[in-house]
Amino acid sequence: MLIFSMFASSIMQVLRSLHEITNYVSEMKHEGKTIGFVPTMGFLHEGHMSLVNLSRKQADVTIASIYVNPSQFNDISDFENYPKDEEADLALLALNECDAVFIPSQDEIESLNKVQVDLDGLDEVMEGKHRPGHFKGVVEVVYRLFSAVTPDKAFFGEKDYQQLLVIRKMVDEVGLNVDIVGAPIIREKNGLAMSSRNVRLSKEGRERAKVIFETLSGYNDLNRSESERNLAAAGFELEYLEEFEYDSVKRLFIAGFFEGVRLIDNVSIN
Ligand code: PAJ
Repeated sequence: MLIFSMFASSIMQVLRSLHEITNYVSEMKHEGKTIGFVPTMGFLHEGHMSLVNLSRKQADVTIASIYVNPSQFNDISDFENYPKDEEADLALLALNECDAVFIPSQDEIESLNKVQVDLDGLDEVMEGKHRPGHFKGVVEVVYRLFSAVTPDKAFFGEKDYQQLLVIRKMVDEVGLNVDIVGAPIIREKNGLAMSSRNVRLSKEGRERAKVIFETLSGYNDLNRSESERNLAAAGFELEYLEEFEYDSVKRLFIAGFFEGVRLIDNVSIN
């Protein structure tokens, strides 16, 4: 299927099978083009588009993927309630002049080999600790997507900073020849990190959720109890708020629930 963007003169390829993606990629590589890859689970927003735009700057061809990966959801209702809007996603990707989008079936993804790697304890803290099996599922699917797309570069948001570290570790361990590029967090006007899950918040909830970024921005060890009180007063059920250092980079991480919706965020604290 071809999607025409009204604003850009480019034509975006929509590839739904392994056969189609393999042919497309080998054609591009044959023309000497480098491949930039942006894996997503859809319901796309400006955060995802920042990755597409970064890829367009750094690679000749940009391929996004949309696949809601069941194996990374430890909570079945989170998986079932994950928002979807393929038509809007395709329009947004075309508007941002993405060259191709890969939308695989679960059967084809699961037909590909998977890897298991030692994540150096990254899967035992924060998201790893609170979402058992989550990073195993992420590693599994990203490895499979990489083997289908064979990108030169792949783009990940710092919104999911621990995921970025996990993917870098996987690439190192397996010895894949792909450059992992991290990109800054895109936020709503009030500071709330953009997320596909934000649509599940009420209008007031979305406004009150600014307390997450406010807390991260003003946090120090001395005001921890005040921070916890502010979060609770705004209706945030805190799961964790902790500093974590890896490869000499220290950041402050938070996770918890607003109106039953699980949200995460982090900031640099160097
Ligand atoms: P998803 O949550 O759709 O996110 C896809 C990519 O967009 C991730 O790299 C994520 O960090 C980035 N992203 C999301 N919100 C962002 C924001 N506000 N600012 C900057 N980047 C943002 O992460 C996943 O999907 C999945 O785990 C996936 C890697 C696709 C594997 O299934």
